[in-house]
Amino acid sequence: MPEIWVAVQAIARTRRTLVPLGLIGSSLAATALAAAALAQQGSGKAPPAEIGVYSGRHYNTDKELYRQFTARTGIKVNLLEGKDDALIERLRSEGKASPADVLVLVDAARLEKASAQGAFQSARSAALLRDVPVNLRDSKGRWYALTRRVRFVVVNPKQVNPASIRTYADLARPGLKGKLCLRDRKSVYNQSLVADQLLQRGEAATRQWIKGVVSNVTQPFFTSDTPLARAVATGECGVGVVNTYYVARMLSGEGGAQDQALARNLKVVFPNPAHVNISGAGVTRHSRNPKAAIRLIEFLASPSGGRGYAEANHEYPLKGYGDNAILKRFGPFKADAVTVEGLGAKNRAAVALMEAGGWK
Ligand SMILES: [Fe+2]
Repeated sequence: MPEIWVAVQAIARTRRTLVPLGLIGSSLAATALAAAALAQQGSGKAPPAEIGVYSGRHYNTDKELYRQFTARTGIKVNLLEGKDDALIERLRSEGKASPADVLVLVDAARLEKASAQGAFQSARSAALLRDVPVNLRDSKGRWYALTRRVRFVVVNPKQVNPASIRTYADLARPGLKGKLCLRDRKSVYNQSLVADQLLQRGEAATRQWIKGVVSNVTQPFFTSDTPLARAVATGECGVGVVNTYYVARMLSGEGGAQDQALARNLKVVFPNPAHVNISGAGVTRHSRNPKAAIRLIEFLASPSGGRGYAEANHEYPLKGYGDNAILKRFGPFKADAVTVEGLGAKNRAAVALMEAGGWK
């Protein structure tokens, strides 16, 4: 049986059925669906429990975790992976006919966006309240964190003294003029970082901070984290802000020997306190199997399931630092005291301030 399943929208509207990837684009899809429906009718037995998962993550090891979940619970997982925003939009357009029971997204800003569009229903369980720290879940139970990542600072020590960076505020110091590289305003990671500063330091200080960091940037804003980390490593930039897992991925050698060698030039600094973001999941509003859906989220948030989910992308588990050797080398960090829900709620204000401050 193929392990990756993809929703066929036209059919899913009426049938809520997912089709094996290999059948997409072929008339076999309809034949397979009809055969499956007949088999169910003929057997007289209730079909096995199954859930649809729409996920903005894309790691092979995630599939192994879903297999483990199925082995434990008997609940089959039909997976559709895609880009976060496309999945949110797809869920919205499918409405009640959507085959998705669980929506997995990355970043507070996207979880908030999906919540605002009514993508989730409230769901609670003792296990989730126990395993997911209160600041890492929605107060209405619409989504729960599954992993944590930190937006930290990478430094080229030939250009900038790593000891000179202790907080995000230090990035606005005039001494870094022409040395700071940043991703553009479209990055939800930076939007959430600015939301974090708004929550911690208020609007006036954040406006001032944006002015300072933008004046330190003297070259085009980057569109993704890895090229930014490379640019710091080669000395094109002296200092930059990226998510922890991009540097860990480079150091692991997954991206090739060249990236691995480059990453070794980097010094990493956790600003104190550090901005922590999450990937998370919720039960979809129109889920027809919310009990099974919540069991999957419980599994992924549990210490055993969560370890695999975090490890797949060199992320931190919900509590502690996990077993990842590279993350251990980064050392400890002190997480800020804000809630992820608060980060989402401040997203619009953050984007408006970035725009006004010339953060391209
Ligand atoms: Fe990312």
